[in-house]
Amino acid sequence: MKKLVGICITLIVLSACSFGPKWDNPLPEDGFFIIAHRGASAYEPENTLPSFELAEKLDADFIELDVHLTKDGELIVMHDDEVDRTTESIGKIKDYTLAELKELTANKDKGKIVAVSGGDEEAYEIPTLSEVFDEMEDDIHYVIELKDTKQYSGIEKKLVELMKDYELIKKDSKGIPKAVIHSFDKKALKEVHKLEPDIPLLQLISFDEDEEAEISKKEMKDILTYASGVGVSYEAITPSFVNEMHGKGLVVHAYTVDDAEAALRLMAMGVNGIHTNEPDLLDE
Ligand code: G3P
Ligand code: CA
Repeated sequence: MKKLVGICITLIVLSACSFGPKWDNPLPEDGFFIIAHRGASAYEPENTLPSFELAEKLDADFIELDVHLTKDGELIVMHDDEVDRTTESIGKIKDYTLAELKELTANKDKGKIVAVSGGDEEAYEIPTLSEVFDEMEDDIHYVIELKDTKQYSGIEKKLVELMKDYELIKKDSKGIPKAVIHSFDKKALKEVHKLEPDIPLLQLISFDEDEEAEISKKEMKDILTYASGVGVSYEAITPSFVNEMHGKGLVVHAYTVDDAEAALRLMAMGVNGIHTNEPDLLDE
């Protein structure tokens, strides 16, 4: 009996001390996901429905997209927090209502049509996140990036609610999560984790090109309290970094890889997914 009590106490102490990830890594050990960065954005304007639809046709495992909040509180899909680069207008998304954003015309000069009004090119409007969820097939998986959250009070809650509405907080029949959230913004990830701990989260980390990826002990301890993986600029990734992350139960995603040789190198290291603008990168 004493022995049993001793074992129970040990187990309780061990579990209380555990900083393991909240998400059991659903990837097979040799698994490798193609994540279509802003959709198939090498071929269609980034973060648009045609870009996501093409990514699906090209058999991407996940589509990645970036979300912001409009002035009237709608979750909208765009990369930058301002419309200058991808439309002919200027200004911050947070200063536009949804209706105003839908009226923007494309910046054709830069070849980055993301928004046009009416006509055949309607599909290239800036989509809301609900429109993406409505239009895409049910079997698609998402990597959703929370961007510039300081500008958008309550964006985490809106996103979590929408994911609940669309039943995206679950795994598919193969055990793969329907949606994960990643962000450079640790505070936003922690807020999501507080709201809904079942959403898998990845901490994005950027390293300089000539730097090797490493995470301090203190940082790692913190990451393990909320995240299931890290998304890292790919040039910095080394085999020992991947091993270390896997040893902690964290998955590793690499961004943004449009070079097939680099993709194969990362795959050989055991990286669990690459973000790429060309989802067909490894087709040949
Ligand atoms: O793929 C990671 C990536 O999405 C983060 O960078 O600037 O393309 O959103 P960015
Ligand atoms: Ca992104």
